[in-house]
Amino acid sequence: MKPSDGPIGLFDSGVGGLTVARALARKLPNERLLYFGDTAHLPYGEKSPEAIRTYALGISKHLMDQGAKAIVVACNSASAVALDVLKEELDIPVYNVIDPVVHYLQRKHAKNIGIWGTRATVASGIYPRKLTEVLPKSEVRPMATPLLVPVIEENLLKGQVTDAVVQLYLNDARMHGVEHLVLACTHYPLIASQIAKQLEEKVHLLRIPTIVANFVAKQLEEGHLLRDRPATESHHFAVSDYTESFEKISRIFFGKGIHLQEENIWI
Ligand code: DGL
Repeated sequence: MKPSDGPIGLFDSGVGGLTVARALARKLPNERLLYFGDTAHLPYGEKSPEAIRTYALGISKHLMDQGAKAIVVACNSASAVALDVLKEELDIPVYNVIDPVVHYLQRKHAKNIGIWGTRATVASGIYPRKLTEVLPKSEVRPMATPLLVPVIEENLLKGQVTDAVVQLYLNDARMHGVEHLVLACTHYPLIASQIAKQLEEKVHLLRIPTIVANFVAKQLEEGHLLRDRPATESHHFAVSDYTESFEKISRIFFGKGIHLQEENIWI
């Protein structure tokens, strides 16, 4: 088997990374995806960097044991704190969800950038650090918006509760003057339309899953790691702790054909 014939491994703390998986499956229909949601440890956004690094490495090795040719860290919290250790320890390409966004904003010469993410992502300081490196004149305003993950995991994708939480964060003083809003958590795209409808017209809401999928596709192509014919096996979706509610919400994230399997790699 050629290295390019292997599957692409992706992981997240839960089902949020399926927003990236879905965009990647659309962009690269020949590819087979191996998805791992670490539901036993959700939410990563409230965990220490050390814990997230341990989880990220364990999952990546598990995906490699299943033949992954590359890893996509489909989680901002893990991309923010675990990338260095993954790149050091793994001998396959590792992609993340932050660099594609930084490149995109650089091309747009973005100036006033709002970042909504988990506490772990915001505390890492990774977005201001990376963005001001390439856009020294930009003003980057990170905001921890932790209430959004439980709202989404509860399947409250629209309605009063979601609107009220979005409103609360939009009213924050740090949002004044923001022109580009980055939803720096792979869960958030599921409520992107609820956020968009409350945004002022001048604010551009980035379509992160598409931006990430385009970037990863290009990197895989340049690395000669794309299949030249469709995979015969279907995608594989695993979680470290199965519940019916995860199964239900995964259909909203990815589509009806999805089926979750429990692989508890932590026992
Ligand atoms: N999907 C994760 C991220 O992108 C957030 C959810 C969590 O806190 O585990 O950061």
